[in-house]
Amino acid sequence: MCGIVGYVGNKSAQPILMHSLKRLEYRGYDSCGIALAGSDLEVYKDVGRIDALATKLNSNGCSIGIGHTRWATHGKPSRINAHPHTDCSGQFAVVHNGVISNYLELQTQLILEGHHFSSETDSEVLAHLIEKYYTGDLVSAVKTALTYIKGSYAIIVLGKDTPYIVTARYENPVIIGVGYHENIVASDVPAVLDYTNKVIILKDGDIATVSRESVKVCNNGREQTRNCNVISWDINEAEKGGYEHFMLKEIHEQPKAIAETLRGCLSKVEPQVNPGIKIPDNIEDVLLLGCGSSYHATMIGKYVLELIVGIPTRVELASEFNHANPVLRKTWTIGVTQSGETADTLMALKKARQLGSHTLAITNVVGSSVTRLVDQCFYTRSGPEISVAATKTFITQLMAFYLLALSWPGVDYKYKYGLIQDLGRLSSKVQRLLNHQAEIAKQGANLARFENALYVGRGINYPVALEGALKLKEISYIHAEGYAAGELKHGPFALLTPQTPVIAIAGLDSTREMFLANIREIKARESPLLAIADERDTEIDKYVDCVIRVPSTEPLLSPVINSVALQLLAYFAAEARGCPIDLPRNLAKSVTVP
Ligand code: F6R
Repeated sequence: MCGIVGYVGNKSAQPILMHSLKRLEYRGYDSCGIALAGSDLEVYKDVGRIDALATKLNSNGCSIGIGHTRWATHGKPSRINAHPHTDCSGQFAVVHNGVISNYLELQTQLILEGHHFSSETDSEVLAHLIEKYYTGDLVSAVKTALTYIKGSYAIIVLGKDTPYIVTARYENPVIIGVGYHENIVASDVPAVLDYTNKVIILKDGDIATVSRESVKVCNNGREQTRNCNVISWDINEAEKGGYEHFMLKEIHEQPKAIAETLRGCLSKVEPQVNPGIKIPDNIEDVLLLGCGSSYHATMIGKYVLELIVGIPTRVELASEFNHANPVLRKTWTIGVTQSGETADTLMALKKARQLGSHTLAITNVVGSSVTRLVDQCFYTRSGPEISVAATKTFITQLMAFYLLALSWPGVDYKYKYGLIQDLGRLSSKVQRLLNHQAEIAKQGANLARFENALYVGRGINYPVALEGALKLKEISYIHAEGYAAGELKHGPFALLTPQTPVIAIAGLDSTREMFLANIREIKARESPLLAIADERDTEIDKYVDCVIRVPSTEPLLSPVINSVALQLLAYFAAEARGCPIDLPRNLAKSVTVP
């Protein structure tokens, strides 16, 4: 996720671009840049945040320009990889938010034709394609260039001698703030609210020509009418996209995060999976390391790898591994850390390397410390996560494990075919669950009355119970523990009273009969029982007091859907208790001390 802006009007563009970019920093902030069209195209960019770049600029009076704040996906955060990107002749500058999945193919062809590339980004191909197809009309060059692009994009293009900017979108947002003798293009409303509250929202496939006095939108070669909406929110509301908290916003971004992480990795026809990771030769087992939610993701990863690949896999808390005396022989070590900065995970990976292990990091942050420490990286593409509680980064870590397992050489065709189809449908299933969050909100408000709760699951849904309990305790301060359902009778049964609700994550897999037996035992102790269950599961109603039904999926993928339901449950419990959801007490987003 990145932020893009463009200005054309009667004022100096540079301060307006910088101010608008600042409003979009929640979308990414590892590097930034602007391009201004005067007698030449002037480009200023750097690593770091908007304020730092702003101190290096003087307003030069140009009244047309574009800008970008980056969350790296292709190539580390660096000045060269920062946007805007330009073509060889320096006539055009482009800012892009999205992922171009066929950029390597396009780049190879353009290099053969004599284009010189400076950056490691996927976005730079856009500038070169526009240069290639430019014959005097920037709009038609952009239109032709986009016909070659596979993937998602929101772009703004600036030409050296063109009194307008061109913007286009496909699966990434673009809005146009309509002002008096000025127009501002941006990824999101907050970027324009200080200048205008009138906004046009582009649709997929739209290409708009934006000049000082007019906005012309075309789609499929035809001119379109797009209404101007009047925005009534204040700036704080707008930065959260209308959500009360970043956590809820990030929960709702999960369909997109899933789709972005899978993008370009699945081929349903063959069927084939290619996450761009080379499985090391001759490995005999796998070691998974992580902390907190990332550790729970590794526990699910173990089930996935052992079931699909059949390779022995163990999981270790990174903080404990650092004090252990592990034996690693032909072991592939995979460290999972969304921030890429967790000190315990970094130390554990260092130790695994010293013991001769090949290492892979699964992380959400390109250029983070972990990326410099390991042999290979898999990047989840969740975009920045602001709320302290991990939500979308946890879900995309699970995606990483499914992709990795399915790309393993020799994996049975029966898994490949069915699971690839089901993975492709996950994003829309999560969306369906989110569309019905009102029922979960009621259950969350009910849960808020209690001071203790237990979460139980079996098999692949046992780590889901741990994750559900972690979410609840960290944001609502309700004491919650996750257990393997079969373990309750070995001690925790003593806690069961009508004041201790139990949240049961009901799988439809081989654990089913045993799980129902465990649920009956809990019911006999009079604890209120709430089940999270597949929508096909009508039998569960006989055993529990309430059910949250979730979209049906292949049991191996059910941790994704169930975890999203549990995130919402925790969120609404915390909301009912009036907790500071995005910044829970005593916690930090990046834990950089061991
Ligand atoms: C829980 C949470 C933490 C992190 C843990 C590891 O919601 O966010 O438990 O999962 O601190 O962080 P990363 O993944 O950055 O290593």
